[in-house]
Amino acid sequence: MDIETVPTEPIAGQKPGTSGLRKKTAAFLKPGFLENYVQAIIDGIGGVAGESFVIGGDGRYGNKQAMQTLIRMLAAGGAKHLIIGQNGLLSTPAASCVIRKRGTKGGFIFSASHNPGGERGDFGLKYNISNGGPAPESVTSAIYEATQTISAYGLAEIEPVDLSTLGTVERGEMTVEVIDPVADYAELMGELFDFEAIGKLFASGFRLSYDAMNAATGPYAKAILEGMLGAPEGTVVNGEPLPDFGGLHPDPNPVHAHDLFETMASPNAPDMGAASDGDGDRNLVLGKSLPVSPSDSIAILAANAHLAPGYAKGPVGLARSMPTSRALDRVAEHLGIALYETPTGWKFFGNLLDAGKITLCGEESAGAGSDHVREKDGLWAVLLWLNILARRGESIREIVKGHWARFGRNYYTRHDYEAVETERAEALMAELKGRLESLPGTTAGSLTIEASDDFAYRDPVDGSLAEHQGLRILFEGGGRAVFRLSGTGTEGATLRVYLERFEADPAKHGMDAQEALKPIIEAAEAVAKIREHTGRSEPDVIT
Ligand code: G1P
Ligand code: ZN
Repeated sequence: MDIETVPTEPIAGQKPGTSGLRKKTAAFLKPGFLENYVQAIIDGIGGVAGESFVIGGDGRYGNKQAMQTLIRMLAAGGAKHLIIGQNGLLSTPAASCVIRKRGTKGGFIFSASHNPGGERGDFGLKYNISNGGPAPESVTSAIYEATQTISAYGLAEIEPVDLSTLGTVERGEMTVEVIDPVADYAELMGELFDFEAIGKLFASGFRLSYDAMNAATGPYAKAILEGMLGAPEGTVVNGEPLPDFGGLHPDPNPVHAHDLFETMASPNAPDMGAASDGDGDRNLVLGKSLPVSPSDSIAILAANAHLAPGYAKGPVGLARSMPTSRALDRVAEHLGIALYETPTGWKFFGNLLDAGKITLCGEESAGAGSDHVREKDGLWAVLLWLNILARRGESIREIVKGHWARFGRNYYTRHDYEAVETERAEALMAELKGRLESLPGTTAGSLTIEASDDFAYRDPVDGSLAEHQGLRILFEGGGRAVFRLSGTGTEGATLRVYLERFEADPAKHGMDAQEALKPIIEAAEAVAKIREHTGRSEPDVIT
């Protein structure tokens, strides 16, 4: 096998963010960019000689071509064995599952998650380590350092691998195995959940509409829901992974999953609506005319997880990202178990899961998961909901209302200001940060500020410190506003404002969240001058 060594130079803009590196497709696939980045990963993880890796992606435009390049580069680095999902497909949670099951050194996942795909959309690549989870800070910094000093990359002169055909082929010294992307994952789900009870639920006429948004989860949802669990054909909509997601923006929120929200608000709504994002790690669950907020969803899943065979003993501990509502804290308190508050991004849950400190974890951004893999898992959350519904024999509305009555309701919303000029967004954060210490005791809108800080997290397992993870402002009466800039956007800056307030009184649980949070929303505007800084009169997306 010949290896071509191509001289190159560092390229700007290759710093991995919350979940790998994301860019506009054209920029990522510009000659040299992908190659430089892959070589930096290979060098950053200490080489690939003699190692095995999993490769998969969400099916978006450019994935198959990029995978052939990756295969050539791993062969050049001396990798021994590659496991690739058929047609290059593996949802993020399925990739995590396969990495763990097959004990590989890591995995390469081609995805820009919920960002739009296609030639004019976004492209992305993230590297996951041997526990199946996103690379921690130490690894991403090593990768970044390698991007700064790179001088050449290696490409093996080998034939392309036919990704559509199952089976194993040889390329140089390396073997390449193309696998069914669904099988391992479906088997794991069968171990965790009461498939018999869920099957009976569907047989009794329960109706679910699952929107796979033309992205990675279609084949998984069809095989598991319609195949193994007997849900009627048509339960899964937009079930074919398409390179441009059929023009859909595969982010399960009220704006982009608009059709599903409409279906669920109609008089003939099915019993449950659900959707997942581009690479299948996010989830959204809706009852009839009742979208379940992700922060509530993870709390409800935690409170009822013991109803699923895989979690029969109940969770050992729980974790949520800092901006996620504190509904989960109440469940942890009730169960008498620990609650960890981590920075945004799934990678911070990895150590807690590996150390056996937590069983379930979640984020307000439609992410929920458990110790079964090391990524958040959209279909898993839907199956756990189905398992709970099957065992409790109640509707989603009854379960959600019952949860609020028992634990109180944490009204919650997130306001996103997208594609804001980077300097303006940074100025807002810098200015607020500069005033943070002087805020307690002052008023914002109609509320008095009780405390404020710049969130930092000391990892209880490895002692590492993550600083500047969001500005927190606590108001009298327990309300909270959190400000942070997104680490996953590809255009300008995205300002996220997270707003929350607790309501104990069940008579006041029926309000619209925006209405219930009005004083907090106004206080957040007063304290941070969002309109003035961003030049926007309202958020682009409200979730
Ligand atoms: C967003 C979400 C975060 C999630 C990440 C990856 O990151 O807010 O919770 O872990 O996507 O899916 P952000 O754009 O806010 O940095
Ligand atoms: Zn995703």
